[in-house]
Amino acid sequence: MEKKVTKIGVLTSGGDAPGMNAAIRAVVRTGIYHGLEIFGIMRGYQGMMEDDIFRMDSRSVANIIQRGGTILKTARCMDFYEPEGRKKAYENLKRRGINGLVVIGGDGSFRGAQKFSQEYDIPCVGLAGTIDKDIHGTDFTIGFDTAVNTAVEAIDKVRDTMDAHDRIFIIEVMGRDAGYIALHSGIATGAENILIPERKTNINDIVNSLLEKERRKKLVNLIVVAEGDEFGGATEVEKVLKDKLPNAEIRVCILGHIQRGGSPSCLDRVIASRMGFHAVECLLEGRHNVFVGILNNKMHYIPLADAVKNKGKISDEWVRIVKILAS
Ligand code: F6P
Repeated sequence: MEKKVTKIGVLTSGGDAPGMNAAIRAVVRTGIYHGLEIFGIMRGYQGMMEDDIFRMDSRSVANIIQRGGTILKTARCMDFYEPEGRKKAYENLKRRGINGLVVIGGDGSFRGAQKFSQEYDIPCVGLAGTIDKDIHGTDFTIGFDTAVNTAVEAIDKVRDTMDAHDRIFIIEVMGRDAGYIALHSGIATGAENILIPERKTNINDIVNSLLEKERRKKLVNLIVVAEGDEFGGATEVEKVLKDKLPNAEIRVCILGHIQRGGSPSCLDRVIASRMGFHAVECLLEGRHNVFVGILNNKMHYIPLADAVKNKGKISDEWVRIVKILAS
């Protein structure tokens, strides 16, 4: 028979995302409501291996719902991918009697949780926390909405100066493997072209359309590029375009980590609160080694193993919308 979960550890791992604090708060307060002991684990799996773990109470999560970043800090911890690292982490949890784990992070963090829960008798539940939204099986990930709105606000500002000077601007947004931030922010700001890692780009098509627009005296052109597109980001795209259009006035703007910070949007706070609440209920109900997703406004519990295998897919509809609206 499965042991009842009585002590839960919570950690944030991988790239931080606005709304992680709201999720931590929900886990802590739901756990306390159910009479559980809750432990915060600092810097993700790193703190689990180094025993940087502390007891949390309701007050430890006061006044954090509106704050970006994560009070538990985060890290990308390679040692946890080694059996030795996971063993150390397990021993630290075991010594404190922690018998359930909530992991807030992206697919890499879920991969770690899945491996850990296969090897050791500590059930894990994941919460999708990543600005990239590249986790299959959920309509939302914590942080995406805030990040994409930050990108939109910044691109709108660049558009003012771009328009004043009749320039071509190439704006790089985050997304090493995923184009969701580029697609959403590009559509929302009326970008003429959007380059994403999931699709091949025909650079000659872009060049031809810029030449054709030049003939029509449409000199302002906005190109949004995900950092992980096939060329390797905005600076590389600029080189290719400059080569083919030596007289064009092109400027590059890389938005970078500004997209990961800031106060979470209402949507991110709400989904983080819902997911955090359900993560604890999952552990109590014996629904283990899953991550909590939201599909059609309903909670879904997807095996961690599936989150590991699947990557989000970009539908053709989006690509068509960009093409048609940009004319
Ligand atoms: O958190 C996801 C992400 O923001 C990616 O879009 C980006 O490529 C990466 O993290 C950057 O990570 P780091 O802050 O470790 O350089």
